[in-house]
Amino acid sequence: MTTGVPVPHDNALAHCTGAARFADDLPEPPGLLHAALVLSPVAHGVLGAIDAPPGVIVLTARDVPGTNDISASGKGGEPLFAEASVQHHGQPIAMVLAETRDAALRAAAAVRCAISPLPALLDMEEAIARESFLMPPQVVARGDAASAIGTAPLRAEGTFRAGGQEHFYLESQVAIAVPGEDGEIAITSSTQHPTEVQHIAGRVLGIDYTRLPVTCRRMGGGFGGKESNASWIAAAAALGAWRTGRPVKLRLARKADMAATGKRHPFLFRWRAGFDASGRVLGLEATLAADGGHSLDLTPGVVFRAITHALNCYDVPAVRITAMALRTNTVSHTAFRGFGGPQGVLLMEDVIRGVARGTGLAPETVRERNFAGGPNDTLTPYGQALEGDLIRRVWAECRQDAEWDRRRAEIAAFNATHPFIRRGLGSFALAFGISFGVRHLNQAGALVHVYTDGSIRLNHGGTEMGQGLNVKVAQVVAESFGVPLDRVRITATSTAEVPNTAPTAASTGSDLNGWAAHRAATTIRGRMAEVAGALWEVPAEEVRFAEGRVFVARPGDNRAMGFADLAHRCWMERVSLSATGFYRTPDIHWDPATMTGEPFFYFSYGASVAEVAVDLLTGEHRVLRADLVQDCGRSLNPAIDRGQIEGAFVQGMGWLTCEELYWDAEGRQRTLGPSTYKIPGSRDVPPVFNVRLLQDAPARQDTIFRSKAVGEPPLMLATAVWNAILDATGLDRIDLPATPDRILTALSARGS
Ligand code: MTE
Ligand code: HPA
Ligand code: MOS
Repeated sequence: MTTGVPVPHDNALAHCTGAARFADDLPEPPGLLHAALVLSPVAHGVLGAIDAPPGVIVLTARDVPGTNDISASGKGGEPLFAEASVQHHGQPIAMVLAETRDAALRAAAAVRCAISPLPALLDMEEAIARESFLMPPQVVARGDAASAIGTAPLRAEGTFRAGGQEHFYLESQVAIAVPGEDGEIAITSSTQHPTEVQHIAGRVLGIDYTRLPVTCRRMGGGFGGKESNASWIAAAAALGAWRTGRPVKLRLARKADMAATGKRHPFLFRWRAGFDASGRVLGLEATLAADGGHSLDLTPGVVFRAITHALNCYDVPAVRITAMALRTNTVSHTAFRGFGGPQGVLLMEDVIRGVARGTGLAPETVRERNFAGGPNDTLTPYGQALEGDLIRRVWAECRQDAEWDRRRAEIAAFNATHPFIRRGLGSFALAFGISFGVRHLNQAGALVHVYTDGSIRLNHGGTEMGQGLNVKVAQVVAESFGVPLDRVRITATSTAEVPNTAPTAASTGSDLNGWAAHRAATTIRGRMAEVAGALWEVPAEEVRFAEGRVFVARPGDNRAMGFADLAHRCWMERVSLSATGFYRTPDIHWDPATMTGEPFFYFSYGASVAEVAVDLLTGEHRVLRADLVQDCGRSLNPAIDRGQIEGAFVQGMGWLTCEELYWDAEGRQRTLGPSTYKIPGSRDVPPVFNVRLLQDAPARQDTIFRSKAVGEPPLMLATAVWNAILDATGLDRIDLPATPDRILTALSARGS
């Protein structure tokens, strides 16, 4: 078995030694020009003349031969380079090309753009008041929420905000475009979505996709930030190559990357709920407003995930959730690990705390009383079943791991004696839907070749961003052929090898590409079995592949040969050893007219408990301990999954506690580098960090080798930290991120 075992990341050593080549490490092609972007210094304005110093090659919207539109939706309104107006601070206006990167950066800084400033719309409340929407508000409703709230014995309401998040991938956005023969431009891109790079470059240049092969060997992190934003970076490089006939590299400096690329959507929440003395929520009305920035990008999908995750793993009989996508003069917000889910699941946390205050119950009791499903499954308000037994299992096991009751008492004793440190415990439980909200993206292809020495070349449509997708898919292929993992060679993602792919996103990489690769491998294995069966005069079904050998599955029949020998024999017999595999997720559907359906193939479940210590004098805090239980089904690779859970949790902690984006009153981003934007460091990792994969986790759906997705869900487990901070301080509300500044301000306002 090569799946289900803890295999290291295929590039673990190469990443650490620097041997792994990222796009900027590749040898530079002769004649390479370096590109630098000219970004808008203002948030909103009318764009006039663009003046460059003499001798500088400057490309603007006027140089676009095709369509100046980089919208993922294809609906327009998202120019590569600004045309008549600028809509946000940091918007690309032009691109400069020069012989060296330094020269390009200097020249870009010397370009002058005449802009007459206009008032900038920056605030979410103001955007709501002015109905500045990117798309019509969406509503998911069941029952009569207003009257359920009206007739409930108790009521509560709340409002809070969650900030956005910068991806801060270690490798900033980069693409290299190399002109070839006959109008071809080969693109190397650090992208989660090579096919969309191909499409956007094709649209901008007005040329066929066949002339635009796109390759990505690996990214130095993507986290959603390279799902749509990588496409326009690559299109800009391709435009430079098309204009000059020379190779062009565009690599954004950190500051330019933070200014010009989208982030996680900030959200504003408002809700009112009716409940009873037992803590059962009877009715809930809520509005979730997402700040989409100046253009659509992937906001419809983010809003969809927020609205379908607003009840998380809880059941509320009468509910009405409205989700809005606000248009403001900020950079267009985009995919970020969880894709609106992390924001959506915050809603019930505030509701649960409100109900706990109203009833005098512990939030954990309120949680338990409102879990969806009993022994049976219950439906989400949009009509999909949740597995109540699994929610309860992850929850119960996590509370047990965390020794909840003992530590509750211990913490109370500590708090009673310490003059200014307050410790607190917080919990969280999660049901996260797996599948792309957009149905057609739930497909994948793979291409497998077996060579006559028995080595196997694997290519699939997914991209590697550090998450371990390649090793997982290679494990699947090795297991399909019954060969050791080192027989399978992982190759760069390429639109020329596997075309028309979906982005590697929505945590579906191994689900989709694992199945596609398994099918390709199974096709070849079937042909190989026929050859062996003919040789041994047994039916092909009786030929088995295991441990690098091929044999007859009959007691007493010892005939066998090496996998490589059979591969060679197939060649001699003129049998093809190459195949494609294709997979589409079955049984998913959604009706936008009624906002109902079963959009997710399955749910991933998790639970967490976090302990914090807050310094009441400074507002600073530390996470002292975290206990996490994450359902990964039958994990393809427990070592990789564990790494994903740990990394996601810490990234979630960063979003909720220290990473703060700040736009000044004129709409200029003021957090454009690590000096002003704080991501968690190694010392923020909880010193006691108990991460556990749910054992014997059933995967009810037919997932690849019964595994479950892991990339995004554990980010949300960090929500327990928010609850722990509120528990420690006794505050009713702290907006996110819960920075020391916010905590101290809230404590001062309360007067403690
Ligand atoms: N892990 C690493 N190391 N780097 C990343 O960029 N991206 C996350 C997650 N884990 C990311 C990561 C996001 S946003 C997603 S959607 C998934 O990986 C995508 O990969 P998968 O579908 O193969 O899990
Ligand atoms: N997640 C990430 N990216 C996406 C999704 C999603 O659910 N839908 C479309 N793009
Ligand atoms: Mo992940 S936000 O779906 O790339």
